[in-house]
Amino acid sequence: MSAGSFDFASLLAPGLPPPAPKWAAFPPYNFVGGHNDADQLPVDRLTAAANAVLTREGATLANYGLASGPLGYRPLRDFLVAKLGRDAGISCTADEILVTSGSLQAIDLVNGALLARGDTVVIEQETYGGCLTRFARLGVNTVGIPLDQGGIRMDALAAALDDLKRRGVRAKYIYTIPTVQNPTGTIMGEERRRELLRLADQHAVPVFEDDCYADLIWDGRRPPALYAMREGRGVIHIGSFSKSVAPALRVGYIVARWDILSRMQALKTDAGSGALEQMVLAEFCATHFSEHVPKLRRALRVKLETLMDALAEQFGTAAEFDDPKGGIFLWVKLPDAVDTQKLYQPALAAGVAINPGPEWSTDKSYGKSRMRLCFANPSQDTIRAGIAALADVCRREFGVPERIANVEQRARA
Ligand SMILES: Cc1ncc(COP(=O)(O)O)c(C=O)c1O
Repeated sequence: MSAGSFDFASLLAPGLPPPAPKWAAFPPYNFVGGHNDADQLPVDRLTAAANAVLTREGATLANYGLASGPLGYRPLRDFLVAKLGRDAGISCTADEILVTSGSLQAIDLVNGALLARGDTVVIEQETYGGCLTRFARLGVNTVGIPLDQGGIRMDALAAALDDLKRRGVRAKYIYTIPTVQNPTGTIMGEERRRELLRLADQHAVPVFEDDCYADLIWDGRRPPALYAMREGRGVIHIGSFSKSVAPALRVGYIVARWDILSRMQALKTDAGSGALEQMVLAEFCATHFSEHVPKLRRALRVKLETLMDALAEQFGTAAEFDDPKGGIFLWVKLPDAVDTQKLYQPALAAGVAINPGPEWSTDKSYGKSRMRLCFANPSQDTIRAGIAALADVCRREFGVPERIANVEQRARA
């Protein structure tokens, strides 16, 4: 048999996702994914942290799980106990934290512990695309709840939970990104959090809180975590260092009470997440996290303003958006004539990558003329040039924005 001729097709497991496309290179104007700001990456300090921790404890790499056991590197969990207490009001012990390979693994472990084909979950109508693809693959039904500027709408949530009850369906969880929502950038206020927890209690449905953007609020002030407001009862909380330090490190975590955390730990069959990145992060975070994050936030805010200015200049009134409360994304509404899934390919051909709205929404028609733009990674010049290129493609493909609208907009400004 010659090399490369073996036919796996007839052997593939059923239900596989389509084959992955081969990665070539990032497009010149890359507004997709959740990449971070390379200029803010604290490379020197991470290098020093790596040197220090390896010199001191490098020999523990001889053991699976270092000397910390399967929940993850103990000093990193100790840092999280202090940080979550200070910032999110969470009171937990190091044994209620499981370090994961990114918060995507945390999502997989939560889903692994709770979801079976045919189950139903309640989620925000606009939500993280990585969860939507997982639900589709797992054969799980989703009930999308519309958002407003304060996060999930409680009237709609109450109605959806009542409707499920009438149909004899108990949702497996309510998944929410309450603190700088992806993609809308909203923050759920404390009152609404209380109401959400009340409804969850009333229907005996747990809450799955994904807080990975909570460090990136412009003014640094956040409401208490849902987990904190229930001392963990009926709430699973996940977080990540991807947005606050670096996504390529692949370090996230789950905070949960032991009765359910122990079920997720049992599903984590990878013999531990990468130890070196946990050690380096713990060493770095102990002394530098609290000064690094505000600096990163300031840099992200500058980029967001550049993006909003560029959209106003190139699209005029044809691009509508709310100024997000933090994070790395802008959720943009284009005129109804624009189908962002049809825009995707011609935009890419012009070097511009966007996330089409339907991939970020349970309501595909609502998402149709919307798109998500990540502004963290491109430089300010790249943002300006990329938005100009995108406006050209939109004009060519969909006739919007009309040039005259922009001129009028700028004259008014
Ligand atoms: C809401 C949300 N949750 C989880 C993730 C996964 O992040 P990571 O696995 O890098 O921690 C992302 C990434 O963009 C996200 O937006």
